[in-house]
Amino acid sequence: MAIQRTLCIIKPDGVEKRKQGAILQRLLDEGFRVLAMRQLTIGRKQAEGFYAVHRERGFFGELIEFMTRGPSVVVALERENAVAHYREVIGATDPAKAAEGTIRKLYGANVGENAVHGSDSEENGRIEIAYFFAGHELL
Ligand code: CMP
Repeated sequence: MAIQRTLCIIKPDGVEKRKQGAILQRLLDEGFRVLAMRQLTIGRKQAEGFYAVHRERGFFGELIEFMTRGPSVVVALERENAVAHYREVIGATDPAKAAEGTIRKLYGANVGENAVHGSDSEENGRIEIAYFFAGHELL
């Protein structure tokens, strides 16, 4: 299976709950390599651009408010079959529907405040990593 890259965002709720370390350790234990990592408070325009595909959705305003309310940690990850494996480890978007032991089940509160973001395809993984990191910053 191919080596892939995917973007993890530990969202403001995950940082507020001080779960950055636990989430990163879990990802390392799952065999992901950290290519680059940064803590930042995502700006409004930056969040709107990142989630542009959801612009017409009813929850868009709420999503932008949430994502910009405090620091997030963005992490570029690499692993064999990274996109699918990461999605398995984080669980369903709604923590209530996520499998036991997944990151969203453990640390998410609801469908909006769900602790982490995950890329939904290899192509989007590459696009999303490039949204936050320059090529020379990746290990
Ligand atoms: P994420 O993986 O970051 O991708 C898009 C995000 O939109 C998703 O996680 C959720 O946090 C958020 N989202 C999806 N559906 C809803 C909803 N019904 N209400 C609020 N936020 C949502």
